[in-house]
Amino acid sequence: MKTPPNDRKFPRGFVWGVATAAPQIEGAAFAYGKGESTWDHFARQPGRIANGDTLDVACDHYHRYRADFALMKKLGVKNYRMSIAWPRIFPEDAGSVNQPGVDFYHRLLDAVLEAGMTPWVTFFHWDLPQALEAKGGWRSRAVPEAFVAYADLLVKNYGDRVKRWITLNEIGCFTRMAYGGTIRPPALNEPEQVINQTYHHALLAHGAAVRAVREHGGRGAKVGLTDDSRVFVPVIENAENSAAARRAFLDANVRVLDPIFRGHYSRDYLRVTGKDRAKVQRGDFALIALPTDFLGLNTYTGNYVRAGKRGKPEVLPLPRSYPQADADWLKLLPQALYWGPRLAHDLYKPKEIYITENGAGYDDPPPVKGEVIDLHRREYVRQGLVELHRAVRHRVPVRGYFFWSFMDNFEWADGYNRRFGLMYVDFKTQRRTPKLSARWYAEVMRTGAVV
Ligand code: GAL
Repeated sequence: MKTPPNDRKFPRGFVWGVATAAPQIEGAAFAYGKGESTWDHFARQPGRIANGDTLDVACDHYHRYRADFALMKKLGVKNYRMSIAWPRIFPEDAGSVNQPGVDFYHRLLDAVLEAGMTPWVTFFHWDLPQALEAKGGWRSRAVPEAFVAYADLLVKNYGDRVKRWITLNEIGCFTRMAYGGTIRPPALNEPEQVINQTYHHALLAHGAAVRAVREHGGRGAKVGLTDDSRVFVPVIENAENSAAARRAFLDANVRVLDPIFRGHYSRDYLRVTGKDRAKVQRGDFALIALPTDFLGLNTYTGNYVRAGKRGKPEVLPLPRSYPQADADWLKLLPQALYWGPRLAHDLYKPKEIYITENGAGYDDPPPVKGEVIDLHRREYVRQGLVELHRAVRHRVPVRGYFFWSFMDNFEWADGYNRRFGLMYVDFKTQRRTPKLSARWYAEVMRTGAVV
């Protein structure tokens, strides 16, 4: 029988890719001159990570990157989002460069290009040098100041081969959730003003990376932030609920998106943060609001909202039986892939939007007869792509999608049981086995359509 006609084809040139992050896959955590990261440190404190797992070996990608890129090539991956480990480049602080670390990424990036892929490189995916945490971490301006040398070094070294740069991954996750939460280092309970200050310092680092790309990135270089903007889905898609979703999106993401796109702490920011607002120094916004080329969104889940009294957004609690992945926080709301880009576009008009991560975390059992039939993952991601396609049809400038993740890896406080990969990884043997979702996603990438 002939394949049915496909009316969910994405535009020509739409970017399809897979994503990873250095601390989650590389391993070699204390080798070749790499310094300790806040996560290496955290993982050594009893009870922090499920099963006492560490990042020490992870997927051993440090030693196996060539084989991993060969697997990507086989799947037809053309765009690869990865990150660079700051403590591999500067093991202590801004003072001392670790040349073996710099050389490692030269070799690795060459191998990415040899495999026919475009690298999309994130400067910072949460692995802060522990030496900088000791100086106050993101509470201190010492971190964005040290970041300047790091950002310049990366762009000067790799800018001839890297033309797509992502400044920071998910600011809220290493600020609020780290200085006002227990599952990410340094796991503190700082007051709200301090937390707002950590956001401000992260925004300064973002600006420093944008400036580095503009100054040293060469022709055709593009740069943007990846945010984990909270997404609100109008429970019934009508005008009132959509307005409520817009308002909820603004308030929830105001600390990150508003200063970058509006260039100052706006009335909305002051309304939300009040007396706890961040302290600003002269010249900060000249850096923070440097124009970017795109906004990256990591979108996994969302909240349902409706218009309450006087249109005020009312977030609906999820019933106990609401479908979710094995990751408890990952409630299944495929419509988030429509409303996230749509609301970000409505409010801030980034030039382009990329979904820099989306996927589903399950505790997949090991392969049976060489197969992992992860139909639940395929189903959720497929529904999300249908929604993303709707956003493209509605002229939201979504230009690409990256699947999280290429392979199972160190899933932060959840350790190695929680799997997001297209490849099943046996962490004892380091054997990679493509799951059913890998074969399905390969066909999505090949055809540029929801299959
Ligand atoms: C994101 C994060 C990734 C990955 C994913 C799944 O927040 O950027 O590193 O772990 O979540 O939880």
